Amino acid sequence: MTELTILGIESSCDDSAAAVLREDGAGARVLSSVVRGQAELHEAFGGVVPEIAARAHAEVLDHCVEAALSEAGLGLADLDGIAVTAGPGLIGGVLSGVMLAKGLSAATGLPLIGVNHLAGHALTPRLTDGLEFPYLLLLVSGGHCQFLMVEDEATFRRLGGTIDDAPGEAFDKTARLLGLPQPGGPAVEAEAREGDAGRIRLPRPLLDRPGCDMSFSGLKTALLRARDAEMAEAGGLTRAARADLAAGFQQAVVEILTEKTRRALALYLEAAPERPAFAVAGGVAANGPIRAALQGLCAEAGVAFSAPPLALCTDNAAMIAFAGLARLRAGEADGLDLSARPRWPL
Ligand code: KG4
Ligand code: ZN
Repeated sequence: MTELTILGIESSCDDSAAAVLREDGAGARVLSSVVRGQAELHEAFGGVVPEIAARAHAEVLDHCVEAALSEAGLGLADLDGIAVTAGPGLIGGVLSGVMLAKGLSAATGLPLIGVNHLAGHALTPRLTDGLEFPYLLLLVSGGHCQFLMVEDEATFRRLGGTIDDAPGEAFDKTARLLGLPQPGGPAVEAEAREGDAGRIRLPRPLLDRPGCDMSFSGLKTALLRARDAEMAEAGGLTRAARADLAAGFQQAVVEILTEKTRRALALYLEAAPERPAFAVAGGVAANGPIRAALQGLCAEAGVAFSAPPLALCTDNAAMIAFAGLARLRAGEADGLDLSARPRWPL
């Protein structure tokens, strides 16, 4: 196998990222992965502001590329191709990345490869754990929540997903409602450790329906109501009530994800994979109780469990470079007319 070195560029949400990856006979290795988050720019607005994100990407992306090349000890001349997220995502941000990649490609003559951001997430367990096709992936973060059966580099079967909010978003809103800091996930998880998950019972939307679709927005509304009831009774939010609300919320998410994963696994196992494997990726995969529940489920089902290291399963450019490799190896490339796509289902 000839050695291939590829640059990846990612800018579809609120992280500007660049990475260099090299593949040879021994497999693919991340030579560098630079991520510049924008969380502090958006914090005051309570969510990602597309206009601010696009401007920030345009300002820092080329520095990310320089840093990634310099960390890898390489120059543009050492590359064999340039992979860039071409969607789905916030259009201004995606455009910033696509324009930079086009410029670099035009200047160097290197092949340009447009990558689907979701394919980047979905293929990561192959990079980190060498999973074999087909495997089942639960992508669960602040922006995503779906089950994908990954059949090959370009074939992803969606078995179900959220019909409204992503769980990370629900964790973040829960933190806001309870007066906890952002990002909400780690804060709610820590608070939940002090609480009684059984005292305040929140709903488990869609759990009684067949299939793998999920819903988290009703849970958030129910939490707001439960909080207000607690506050009315005690004249404010007591420490104990806050912990019980956090624990009750987290427990509901654990149960929804576990039950829906059980169903997704059953569908996946119908395909009779030779080496059944399940991977969970995305920021919410950092949650201890969620991870433990999914791992236990896989142990019961005789399915290998994997959870890529957090730096590679939250937004990054190494996954984009890796997803671009297969097309580069196959001699495929996009033209300079590659367009940025705000929507691009797998
Ligand atoms: O994958 P990610 O970094 O970004 C995207 O959403 O694209 O995921 C971030 C999300 C945030 O909503 C954050 O609150 C959540 O992941 N998160 C967690 C934990 N750590 C991060 N949620 C629950 N428990 C955690 N320990
Ligand atoms: Zn993402």
